[in-house]
Amino acid sequence: MRIVVERSGPLAGTVEVPGAKNSVLKLMAATLLAEGEYRLTNVPDITDVPVMCELLGAMGVRCERPSPHELVIRNSGDVTPVAPFHLVDRIRASVNVLGPLLARLGRAQIGMPGGDDFGSRPIDLHVAGLSAMGAQFALGPEDVRAVAPRLRGAEILLRFPSVGATENLLTAAVLARGTTVIDNAAREPEIGDLCAMLASMGASIEGVGTDRLVVTGAEPGSLRAADHEVVADRVQAATYVAAVATCGGDVEVRGARPEHMEMLLNRFAEMGVAIEPTGGGLRASCGQRLRSIDFATLPYPGIATDYKPLLVGMLAVADGTGIATENLYPGRFRYVDELAKMGADVRIDGHHAVVRGVERLCGAEVSAPDIRAGAALVVAGLAAEGRTSIDQVHHIDRGYDDLVGRLRAIGASVSREPTDR
Ligand code: UD1
Repeated sequence: MRIVVERSGPLAGTVEVPGAKNSVLKLMAATLLAEGEYRLTNVPDITDVPVMCELLGAMGVRCERPSPHELVIRNSGDVTPVAPFHLVDRIRASVNVLGPLLARLGRAQIGMPGGDDFGSRPIDLHVAGLSAMGAQFALGPEDVRAVAPRLRGAEILLRFPSVGATENLLTAAVLARGTTVIDNAAREPEIGDLCAMLASMGASIEGVGTDRLVVTGAEPGSLRAADHEVVADRVQAATYVAAVATCGGDVEVRGARPEHMEMLLNRFAEMGVAIEPTGGGLRASCGQRLRSIDFATLPYPGIATDYKPLLVGMLAVADGTGIATENLYPGRFRYVDELAKMGADVRIDGHHAVVRGVERLCGAEVSAPDIRAGAALVVAGLAAEGRTSIDQVHHIDRGYDDLVGRLRAIGASVSREPTDR
C-alpha cells in the first residue's frame, strides 16, 4: 500500500485521538504478572497490537479482540517464559515481558541479539537494574536468559531516565520481596498509565508522575487481573495539531490530553498555532505562515523524540531558519532525505538539523522510514504543491489508527492505494 496526498486545507472539524501505542503494548505485557481476565479499552487499531497478542499467545496467554478497540486477555497461569526472536524482533516493546516474567515465574528467555551491544537500542539499564534485584543474566549470541528465584527490592539509580527500563523495573518490583526505589525514573505519561493499571491489580507504587518511584512488592500470587482504559496517544494527537499547523484550519482534537503535551503545545504556540484546551481535548487553529523555532528533544516533560519529525516538517515550511537537536537517538534523521525530495532545505550537522523554511514544498515519491517519520511525511504532503506518494506504509500502520480516515474526516485530500496500481 501507499498513501497519496494532495495539497489540502484549511482543515476543519473534529478528530478523535485513539489510545497510545506506547502504553497499550506495555499494559499487555503486564498481564503476565497475574492470572485472570483483563479487559483493555481504548485500544488503538494498529498492527503492533496483534504482534504483541501473538507474542503473549506464544507464551500461553490468550488475547481476543471483541471489537477493534477492545482486548480481552486471559492469563490462566500456564505461562511459558520464552519470547521467540521472530516476534521480539518486530516490536521494541516486547522487551517489556522481561520484568513480569522474572517477577512471576523466576525466569525468562528472550530472543534478541546478545553480546555486549544489543544493537542500536541497548537494554543495559534493564539488565543492570534487574541484576541489582537479584536476577542473574546469561547473554548469548541470540537470546537473553535470566533467572531469579525471588527478586528482592533494591535502590536503583538510572543513569538515564529510560522509558523501557523504568517499565521493566516497575513490573518486576511489584512482585519483589521488599521495597524498590527507582531514582531518575522516566516520567512519560504512558508510565503513569502503566502505574494506574498496576495499582488496579493491587500493586503499591508511590511517586507516580515523578522521577522517584517507590514500589512495595506484593506477595507472589497476590496481584489480580484488572480492566483498564488505555491513555490517549499524545503523538497521534500531536500529528493532527501538526496537520492544522502545516495547512491551516481550525480543528478540535477530541480526547487529547493537553496536560501530557504541555511543552510541545507551548512550542507550537510560539510557531503561531493557537491552542486552547476544551472540556474533552484541545482545539488547534492556524491561519498564517508558521514561524521557525529552535528545539531539542529530551526525556519527558521535554519535547519527545517521537514529535521531532513532525516539528522538522513544520520548520520546512516555516518563515526563517530553525535548528532541531536530537538528544536521544543521534541517528534519527533518516527521513530528512525524503523531505529533501519534497524541496525541504535541511542540512544535518551531527545531531542537529538546520532547517531553512521554504515558501512551498512540492509533491514527490517518498518512503516512510519509520512510524513517526512516515506520519510526518503525510503531514508535509498536505502542504506540498501537487501529489505526494508515500510508500512503506506498513511502518505508519504500526502506530497510527486510521491516519488516512481521520485526516479525511477533517477535510484533507489523502487516500490509500495499492502499490501495484
Ligand atoms: C520508548 C518509545 C519510543 C520513544 C522512546 C523515547 C516504546 C515502545 N518506545 O522507547 O517510541 O522514542 O521511548 O521517548 O515505548 N538506553 C540505553 N540503555 C538502555 C535503555 C535505553 O542506553 O538499557 C538509551 C537508548 O539507546 C536511547 C535512550 O536511552 O538513546 C532512550 O531509550 P528509552 O527511553 O529506553 O526508549 P525506549 O523505551 O526504547
